[in-house]
Amino acid sequence: MATFDIEADRAKFPALKEDQVFLDNAGGSQTLGAVIEAISDYLVKSNVQFGGGYKTSKASSSRYDDGVTAGAKFLNAEKDEIAFGSSTTQLLRNLSFTLPFHPGDEIVVSSIDHEANIAPWKDLAARLNLALKWWTPQQPPKSTNPRLLPADLAPLLSPRTRLVTCTHASNVLGSIHDVKAIADAVRGAAPDALLCVDGVAYAPHRPVDVKALGVDFYVLSWYKVYGPHVAMLYGSRRAQGQMRSLGHFFNPHATLENKISLGSGHYELVQSIPAIVDYIGPPTPGSLWPSIAQHESRLQSTLLAYLASKPGQVTIYGEPSADASVRLPTVSFAVAGCDSRALVETLERTTNYGFRWGAFYSNALVHDFLGLGPSGVVRVSMAHYNTLDEIKGFIEALDGVISEAA
Ligand SMILES: Cc1ncc(COP(=O)(O)O)c(C=O)c1O
Repeated sequence: MATFDIEADRAKFPALKEDQVFLDNAGGSQTLGAVIEAISDYLVKSNVQFGGGYKTSKASSSRYDDGVTAGAKFLNAEKDEIAFGSSTTQLLRNLSFTLPFHPGDEIVVSSIDHEANIAPWKDLAARLNLALKWWTPQQPPKSTNPRLLPADLAPLLSPRTRLVTCTHASNVLGSIHDVKAIADAVRGAAPDALLCVDGVAYAPHRPVDVKALGVDFYVLSWYKVYGPHVAMLYGSRRAQGQMRSLGHFFNPHATLENKISLGSGHYELVQSIPAIVDYIGPPTPGSLWPSIAQHESRLQSTLLAYLASKPGQVTIYGEPSADASVRLPTVSFAVAGCDSRALVETLERTTNYGFRWGAFYSNALVHDFLGLGPSGVVRVSMAHYNTLDEIKGFIEALDGVISEAA
C-alpha cells in the first residue's frame, strides 16, 4: 500500500486552509483543487454547445466524453451504462418514471434509507397500484444498530417482485451493508427483480465495482466525493432493457443517458470528473482507497472509543465497532440529558468544528425506527483529509459539554 502523506493530501484541497474543521463530510465533502481548476478551464476555453463541427465544439464534446468515461471507470461500468443528473434525488425520481410495472407487481423498499431512495418508490407504488412491502430490520427488535440483512429480506421476495431498493451505507449510521449478499438473495428468489442501491454515503470512502456487486442501479452524488454538485446513476444493460425513455421522441433512446438525462447536461461539472478519478483511482490495485480506509479507521476508532467510554450517558447509533469493513467514519450518537441540537449549537458558538444535528433526510430511520425526536442525532462525519489531531481536539471540546450534562 502506498504511504499516505496526510499533509500532502490536504494540500490538494484549497478549502482545508480555512479556519474550519470539516466534520460534516456526509453532508458534502470539500472539493479537490484539480476539480476547481478543470471547471474554470472548461468555462474559459470550451463553454459552447457540444455536438457541433467547429473546433471549440469538438473540444467541448471531447471533454464531456472524457467525464463520462471517467465516471464509468469509477464504478467499473461502461459508458452507455452511466447517466448524470443534478442530484441523486432527481435521478431516482426520474428513474421511477421509466419503470413500466403492472398493477399487482411487488416492490420491496428499505424503510431505513435516505428519503431520496424511499419517496419515488412509494409514489410509484401508488401511481401504478403496486404492492409495496417494507424491508425493516427485525433482529434484534428496535436495535440502535439496524442493518439490512438478507434474512429479513428473504420472506418479502417472490417471483412477482420487480424491484428491491436499499442503501449501501447509511448517511446517519455509517454501517456498511453487504450488497453482494443482498443481490444474491434477490437473484435467487426473484430473478426478474431489479436491485437499486443508494451509494451516496458509501462512495466517498470505499471503491465500488457495480459488476462485482451484481446490482442493477447504483447512484452517487459527486459533491460528496470531492467533486462538484452533480450526481451519477449506473444502470445495467439488463435493467435498461426494462426502462422506457423519458427523452424527446426524435432523439436516440439507446443509452441510459438518452433515457433519463433530460435537456442540456452539467457540461462543466461532468468534464471535471477525470480529476477525481485520477486522484482517488477506480476500484483497482494501486489506488488511494486502501490508504483512505486505513486512515479513516484510525479516526473512527478514536472517536468511537471515547463515545463508548461513556456508557449509560452516550448512545451510539450504528455499528459500535470501529472495524473499517463494517462501518464508515460517519458516527452518530445522542447524549442523555443533552438535546442534540443544543449540544451542536453550544460547540458551534465556541469552537471551529463544523458538525451537525438532525435526521439528515433519513427521517424514517431517525424518527420512526430509532424513535428520536426533532433534534435527532449528533452526527460527526469524517473524511480521509481529517487529521487525528482534529478528532482529538473535537473529543476534548465535546467532553466539556458531556461532562457538564452528566
Ligand atoms: C445516503 C444519501 N442518499 C441520497 C442523498 C441525496 O443526494 P442529493 O443531494 O444528490 O439528492 C443523500 C444526501 O445527503 C444521502 O446522504
